[in-house]
Amino acid sequence: MLKIGVLVSGRGSNLQAIIDAIEAKKINASIAVVISNVHGVMALDRAKKHGIKAVVVDGKEFQNKSDYEKEVIRILDSEKVGLICLAGYMRLLSPEFVHHFRGKIMNIHPALLPAFPGLHVQKKALEYGVKFSGCTVHFVDDGCDTGPIILQAVVPVLDEDTEDTLSARILEQEHRIYPEAVRLFSENKLRIEGRRVKIG
Ligand code: GRF
Repeated sequence: MLKIGVLVSGRGSNLQAIIDAIEAKKINASIAVVISNVHGVMALDRAKKHGIKAVVVDGKEFQNKSDYEKEVIRILDSEKVGLICLAGYMRLLSPEFVHHFRGKIMNIHPALLPAFPGLHVQKKALEYGVKFSGCTVHFVDDGCDTGPIILQAVVPVLDEDTEDTLSARILEQEHRIYPEAVRLFSENKLRIEGRRVKIG
């Protein structure tokens, strides 16, 4: 059975969606470990509440990024994870990290990539004036939000939207498509062919 490692930095609602899908037996996998780079975040409490091992690896406690990532890799390898889910994880991974787990790292991004990569993207979508936005689950490569796209969901942007209302509409879709992407991976149904991810 697939073992998953989830990297988080905050609220952990996407982590929760994956936990719920596993507990509802929609995904045949287990979460072996949740690693946060920030102490005291809600994601850690969510993991513990469901009996999932939750650890903090705080970048500030290491000499440099390489030593920090070596510790994260050591934990993930010791848990024998076959998939790493970034779920609101606020650090960029180095190429060394990405290559170590090539094709086995997923991220969820709250915009329709390649539009609006990076941070504060719901605000950027509103400011730009797009009529639709959404979310993207993608494999992680060396770039920032540039890896092959697995699933996307579209939501309308309404005239009266604020950053909060648009974020909430997108988040609802995140909680639907992230577990779905994990399920497809766990059933070996994702094939990366260049930039494209073929399903089935
Ligand atoms: C989500 O909007 C996700 O798309 C982005 O960071 C946010 C994390 O939320 N990468 P949560 O921690 O999963 O609640």
